[in-house]
Amino acid sequence: MKNVRLKVPATVANLVCGFDILGMAIHEPYDEMELKLLETPEVIIRHTDGFGLPEEPSGNVAGVVLLKIMEHLNLKNGFELIINKRIKPGSGLGSSAASAAGAAVGANELLGNIFTREELVYFAMFGEELASGVKHADNIAPCIYGGITLVKSSDPVDIIPLNAPDLFVTAVHPQIEVKTSDARQILKNKILLKDAIEQWGNIAGLVAGIQKNDSGLIGRSLKDVIIEPVRSILIPKFNEIKEKSMEAGALGGGISGSGPSLFMLSETEKISKDIAEIMQTVYNETGIDSLVYVSKINPSGITVID
Ligand code: HSE
Repeated sequence: MKNVRLKVPATVANLVCGFDILGMAIHEPYDEMELKLLETPEVIIRHTDGFGLPEEPSGNVAGVVLLKIMEHLNLKNGFELIINKRIKPGSGLGSSAASAAGAAVGANELLGNIFTREELVYFAMFGEELASGVKHADNIAPCIYGGITLVKSSDPVDIIPLNAPDLFVTAVHPQIEVKTSDARQILKNKILLKDAIEQWGNIAGLVAGIQKNDSGLIGRSLKDVIIEPVRSILIPKFNEIKEKSMEAGALGGGISGSGPSLFMLSETEKISKDIAEIMQTVYNETGIDSLVYVSKINPSGITVID
């Protein structure tokens, strides 16, 4: 039977001010997934990564996506899926989205590319719903489309692919776990009009900056007056890392997705590497292990290896 192997990248959701609507694919870290089409309508999942994630299909983020696709098509075939997860669960780097999006893209490849990218986002959101309790596409969309994406609407799915500016991304993952569901629960349900005005000015400025390749405008727009003040308390050394990164020349940055990872954008490789060193030094001094990734914005998203 047919099989397909995929490289599925990490993603940075929100891009500071665009809670649940903006996201960006990066090159490192990434998951490896291998899917096989089965002659029987069942889903078999095996993780080779040792994270202890559930392998029972209805309790697995990738599994629910495959089951949904089978149900939608009334499929007589099934799927076997082997996942080598290198994006740590609970890192804020789109680990669950990678599983969900990889499952949708892999199944589509095996079925002869019958779905549009927006349909793939639709199916993958069932995985995000299992992981966090809410269907959101801000990690899934850049994982599938590559580059930076705007989720204009998730119901109905309306994704706007944006430019992928020639910038460097430094991401640090302090080795503590923040569950997306917990990081969503602490948010306020109501916001002040004055905060909303500032936030939508920043979102519009960020999208304009991305489209115009205007680094200065991107930097000025990477500000969040709604989510960051609440969530940053969950992340050790958040303010120190941000301040030191800005001093080192970062354009801006903040929490990656729901945390605990942080990311910074910069214009040169040198600055992005200096920032990586700053991030690790701060966490070393605090006695918190951390993983740091430096990469460019990933313009392609999920790639089929063979
Ligand atoms: N937009 C989501 C959040 C991303 O910030 O909760 C995390 O999956």
